Amino acid sequence: MTEKDALATTDHLQSQGHNDHPNQDMKVTPWEVEGEIDYDKLIEKFGTSLITPEILEKIKKITGELPHSLKVQYFFSHRDFDWILKKYENGENFYLYTGRGPSGMVHLGHLIPWIFTKYLQEKFGSRLLFQLTDDEKYLYRQHSIRKEIERYTYENILDIIAVGFDKKKTKIIVDSKHIQYLYPIATDIAKRITFSTAKSIFGFSNSTNIGMIGFPSIQAAPCFLPSLIERKPTPVLIPAAIDQDPYWRMTRDVAERLGYYKPAQIHSKFLPGLGMSAKMSSSKPETALFVSDDPETIDRKISSAFTGGQPTVALQRKLGGNAIGCPVFWYLRYFFDTSDESDERYLKCKTGNLLCGECKGDLSNDSQSFIIDFKKRREKAKDVIDEFMYDGEPYDR
Ligand code: TYM
Repeated sequence: MTEKDALATTDHLQSQGHNDHPNQDMKVTPWEVEGEIDYDKLIEKFGTSLITPEILEKIKKITGELPHSLKVQYFFSHRDFDWILKKYENGENFYLYTGRGPSGMVHLGHLIPWIFTKYLQEKFGSRLLFQLTDDEKYLYRQHSIRKEIERYTYENILDIIAVGFDKKKTKIIVDSKHIQYLYPIATDIAKRITFSTAKSIFGFSNSTNIGMIGFPSIQAAPCFLPSLIERKPTPVLIPAAIDQDPYWRMTRDVAERLGYYKPAQIHSKFLPGLGMSAKMSSSKPETALFVSDDPETIDRKISSAFTGGQPTVALQRKLGGNAIGCPVFWYLRYFFDTSDESDERYLKCKTGNLLCGECKGDLSNDSQSFIIDFKKRREKAKDVIDEFMYDGEPYDR
């Protein structure tokens, strides 16, 4: 592939969503992601900023390399990430904050922001707060069962530890267990948000249960906890997919009134489902690859995945495939291929020199080895859970 071709590919990919439901309206909230995702429109709608080449240059200057998920523009949008980097250059480090709603087993889509968070922790030496919103998951679904959420909370703690965060610099907060550390901050926040504002940010209505209406202040609280731990206003950076942004819009609104910095964000796109739904989702298990899946299940799910291929091999050779509309391509691009390999794959698919079976085979092999290795790390995580749990004490110095 020539340099010009590669650039054309990247430019083209950057401006595209990777969803194939052009007639469905886009809906992105913390609880639902549907329709054709147009990431340029989301930036406009949410009022965030595109990650610029200048920011990428700065990251490269500080860390010596550009991580894969920035190279392929998986993380594409931000608020105040440039400010965080400036603070860092001036000697003021930042905390990282991210989280999980424990409603099921973790799939590969959840792992991408966490792997990126680990990269940031390693490169910047940042402390990390990881929140598990078991209360949110209990309140959100009418038929949710507390016992099940407790089980997934435990399973997800193993997943988080298995990502490989530094245990001296990482604390996990489970809302129902550690509420005493969050509640004073959450009430400070809640007192300053009216129902009318919450309705316009989150789309709440008269039939929303009142637990959900108050919940956003609990997810906002860890944005300010580092300032209490450090006893001074402390910058916080949140890596997450862009579905979580409404929480941060609300938090940023009240931050300065409470004497804190506004939390900064770096937003990712969504890993699509294997059936080409807007995002990989636990509620559509046949189209998601879970870290708990066995090799046969992974193989079966990938074999029946939707692709951008033509109906026959002859037509594929003649007309080429549609990588942009193919979840198998995006999985490989975001998770397993290097950016050069992925650009090459794109070109070979487009020109009919690659068949869907080959891409599916690559994805199946890569996913199986990744998940086998991940499961081993989950087993080891069982011995160190206590060391990761938040206890109100300062982090190890
Ligand atoms: P949850 O459990 O829905 O998602 C956990 C994290 O995974 C991201 N995510 C995805 N990323 C890429 N592709 C996908 N298909 C995909 N599905 C989910 C989410 O953006 C999130 O980063 N309320 C939150 C829990 C939470 C939180 C936080 C998340 C509490 N504090 C701070 C991020 C940052 C939730 O239910 O996430």
